[in-house]
Amino acid sequence: MKLIIATIKPFKLEEVREALSEAGVRGLMVTEIKGFGAQSGHTEIYRGAEYVVNFVPKVKLELVVADGVADQMVEVISKTAQTGKIGDGKIFVLDVEQAVRVRTGETGEDAI
Ligand SMILES: Nc1ncnc2c1ncn2[C@@H]1O[C@H](COP(=O)(O)OP(=O)(O)OP(=O)(O)O)[C@@H](O)[C@H]1O
Ligand SMILES: [Mg+2]
Repeated sequence: MKLIIATIKPFKLEEVREALSEAGVRGLMVTEIKGFGAQSGHTEIYRGAEYVVNFVPKVKLELVVADGVADQMVEVISKTAQTGKIGDGKIFVLDVEQAVRVRTGETGEDAI
């Protein structure tokens, strides 16, 4: 299994969630975060306001998926979240050792 961590622009959340659902994703964590990327200290526009400070609001998605579909889900997020402007986000992929569905005790891919 893989953990996909993606930061996206907040206004893209609903579109990305829909695209992931259509692609078969059944679980997702969403957190409102602030962060910075390569333009640290430079301006980035968010909802018409110019951020000259280092931290810009983003949404972080975390999803655990089977190895075989990880690349596909990364592509879905990447294509859907892309505007072509700076600050479109980053995607990281990590190995996951174990998952457990608490209700049933199922483990591994059966639990996701
Ligand atoms: N190396 C990193 N490690 C952890 N989080 C990061 C890293 N780079 C970016 N992020 C997170 O992703 C968010 C968006 O980054 P961003 O899209 O601005 O990356 P970038 O490299 O500056 O690309 P771009 O040039 O397109 O803006 C940041 O606000 C931060 O939350
Ligand atoms: Mg940036």
